[in-house]
Amino acid sequence: MPADPFLVIGRGRLLRPKPYDGPLPWAILVRDGQIAWLGARADAPETEAITDLADALVTPGLVNAHTHPAFLGDRSDEAAARLAGAPYTGGGILRTVAATRAGSDDEIRAAIEDRLRAELASGTTTIECKSGYGLSTTEELRALRLIGEAAAELPIRVVRTFLGAHAVPPDAGSMDEYTKVVAEEILPAVAAGELAEFCDVFCDRDFFSLEASERILRAAAGLGLGIRMHADQLTRSGGAELAARLGATSADHLEQLDAAGVAALAGSSTVATLLPGPAIVMRGGLPPARPLLDAGVTVALASDANAGTFGAWGAMPLVIGLGATMLGMTMQEAVAAATTGGAAALGLAARKGALEVGADADLVAWDAEHEGAFGLNLGSVRPLQTWIGGTLAGATSMARSARPHIERNHP
Ligand code: NIG
Ligand code: FE
Repeated sequence: MPADPFLVIGRGRLLRPKPYDGPLPWAILVRDGQIAWLGARADAPETEAITDLADALVTPGLVNAHTHPAFLGDRSDEAAARLAGAPYTGGGILRTVAATRAGSDDEIRAAIEDRLRAELASGTTTIECKSGYGLSTTEELRALRLIGEAAAELPIRVVRTFLGAHAVPPDAGSMDEYTKVVAEEILPAVAAGELAEFCDVFCDRDFFSLEASERILRAAAGLGLGIRMHADQLTRSGGAELAARLGATSADHLEQLDAAGVAALAGSSTVATLLPGPAIVMRGGLPPARPLLDAGVTVALASDANAGTFGAWGAMPLVIGLGATMLGMTMQEAVAAATTGGAAALGLAARKGALEVGADADLVAWDAEHEGAFGLNLGSVRPLQTWIGGTLAGATSMARSARPHIERNHP
């Protein structure tokens, strides 16, 4: 691969995520892992090495701002039962908690690593990873540590989130008692160990109340953690308003959101992270993407890959397609939501999700010519080459005429 600095050039569609509309070929200068210059090839600084992406579609690396990878076990039987009419309850999560607690560090770390590899292979360069299948101090700290260890093996950038308030464990007396344990015991240990950048809460009927969620999120903010929420997924419980009021970085799911909830988010800095995968699997309604976008809310699209409501790892190309086909977004809005939107949902807007001078050189050349392929091919659009921080993180050998090649720019 070319040494830094190098030029990436192409004659195809370049989404930054707004389409580049200057003269072709375009060129991106990568230096010190960042984008140092972007414009017309004719005006580009000369470098020794050039990677020519021909007519491939090029986008920023995808940012998957909501996943739950730290678990073992299988609940596809539960999905089948639910699709036959059984209700979704906390019992499903507790099955995964039992299977995960019974696993060794090596087993859990390997499972996380496999999931991160699948994400990387499908164009995700930054991913948020939650704990939440441990539900005790020891087990939550273990999950966050193992996410960190798996991440250290791979070039993908991982943002960790503590989700101790995912369900009430069987060994806790009540939601209130467990809320106290999360706020006063587990959270301080997570913060002291610097094991997470965010704290999340599953705020919904039969999971955590608004009061319990507020107590946990205030404690997290007081310890210097960022805050985010699972909000208004199963019932319209008012999570969006709480997220807006607390200044949460993101409110996620929002399948049940109504006009008042849209207005609450529009009056805040909170990103709406929409998750079409579980929304479709759960058949509980789709989030109001169009009203959120029309109200000026920053929208992110993420996969929510997890043990019980959407099990696909490496599904971000599908998620982009579903954003357009099922949620009514334009293809460009969907790509933006999976790049700049995801970066905003993780508080990384300046560095990730956009091909701008000064941003990290995270980019993907796709086996496609136009973003419409995400909607047309639903999930089967694959990366040809992926760079993270200017380093080649994955390349596929494709028999495509637009196959990228590296040429030496000798006189
Ligand atoms: O985001 N909604 C809460 N948590 C996950 C599902 C977890 C599970 O069922 O294991 C979600 O959908
Ligand atoms: Fe989730």
